[in-house]
Amino acid sequence: RRLLGAAGAGGAAGLALGAGGYALVGQRSAPAAAAAPALGAASVPFHGPHQAGIVEPMQSALHATAFDLTPGTGRPGLTALMKRWSAAAAAMAEGRTPPGLSDDQVALDAGPSSLTVTFGFGAPVFAKAGLTAQQPDRLAPLPAFPEDRLDRARSDGDLWVQVCADDPLVAFHAMRTLQRLAAGQAAPRWQMTGFSRAPGATARPMTGRNLMGQIDGTNNPKPSDADFASRVFVPAAPASGQPAWMAGGSYAVFRRIRMLLDTWDLQSREVQERTIGRRKGDGAPLSGGTETTPVDLAKQNPDGSLAVPGDAHVRVAAPASNQGAAMLRRGYSYHDGLRPDGSPDAGLLFVCFQADPLTGFVPVQRKLARGDALSRFVVHESSGLYAVPGGAPAGGYVGQALLE
Ligand code: HEM
Repeated sequence: RRLLGAAGAGGAAGLALGAGGYALVGQRSAPAAAAAPALGAASVPFHGPHQAGIVEPMQSALHATAFDLTPGTGRPGLTALMKRWSAAAAAMAEGRTPPGLSDDQVALDAGPSSLTVTFGFGAPVFAKAGLTAQQPDRLAPLPAFPEDRLDRARSDGDLWVQVCADDPLVAFHAMRTLQRLAAGQAAPRWQMTGFSRAPGATARPMTGRNLMGQIDGTNNPKPSDADFASRVFVPAAPASGQPAWMAGGSYAVFRRIRMLLDTWDLQSREVQERTIGRRKGDGAPLSGGTETTPVDLAKQNPDGSLAVPGDAHVRVAAPASNQGAAMLRRGYSYHDGLRPDGSPDAGLLFVCFQADPLTGFVPVQRKLARGDALSRFVVHESSGLYAVPGGAPAGGYVGQALLE
């Protein structure tokens, strides 16, 4: 997908970062340097049946921002904003300056760098826009989970915007542009910045690692799975039991989860591996095999104990333990310096997409909050649930089926 276009075609294909080829680390030779424009030139179409930024492999930089409508904006103002935002996102996804703006140069030297912009609606926006009859019942507030330590000022919001790109300047510029375009109609409520591995950093494409050092993302639903679409995207009404405007859409859960890294780093490798249920080095399940070997939850050690412990994260979170519940996780690491006590303010900006949060995220998090060994090492600090409409057709805008 992403590196087709300039990168896939030219002689730099062998250096296409993050998609099969790679640049040799420590040998940033002339050919390697020549690969940089190819990375920047890669693009992801904004228009399509689903919004971009859900099924695409993760880019390396994230800006997540929630906005609240300014008083008096209402449905006409929201409609105008979604039109402006969609036109700007479509232009920037092609590396163009958004219509009506003189560019500030921040990102003009790079291409779109696989920029994706994903828009979501939070529950409060429906009443503010006079659209309560259209609010999905799935968008009810998430239940309070035991041990939640949520900061409401950094949770929720009327609108949610996820910006991802493979260049940090491109990502910042897109987020900043959307913020400028919202002036007068919506103001930022909170903003968070995340990162994952730089494209091309590893000798071969591999699943990313989180800040605890674990390979994270292995057992995600895959687009090639027969039930992938039904797990991630809302089917057409009336079969879905959801409003018609949500067809092709999804629900995003966003949680800022701080990691207690000072405590985690004191644990032995064995404790860390039993906490997750996978080996740290290669991500293989403790039931044996390689990273991609299915986890055998029934497997026993010679002494009769479970190979994957009863409270291991992968056991408690697995679809098999949750009536088949599944979600597409697309989380990013964050690091915002130090807390007053000197510990790192760092962790996971957990993002997951699913067709129905009440059968996806909610039962899994309920179970994790009660019996997950990992919960001793993390604190959930903020939370949001957003209805992510289907993608905009060419010439259309995100949310059109709701707002027109
Ligand atoms: C699996 C880490 C929070 C749901 C995993 C794996 C790791 C991991 C290392 C194994 C590799 C993989 O399959 O991706 C973490 C960390 C978290 C966190 C560090 C918090 C900081 C959550 C939350 C949820 C969740 C909040 C959902 C409520 C899952 C699921 C799996 C998984 C569904 C796959 C289980 C399977 O089918 O094998 N996580 N996770 N995780 N996690 Fe988490």
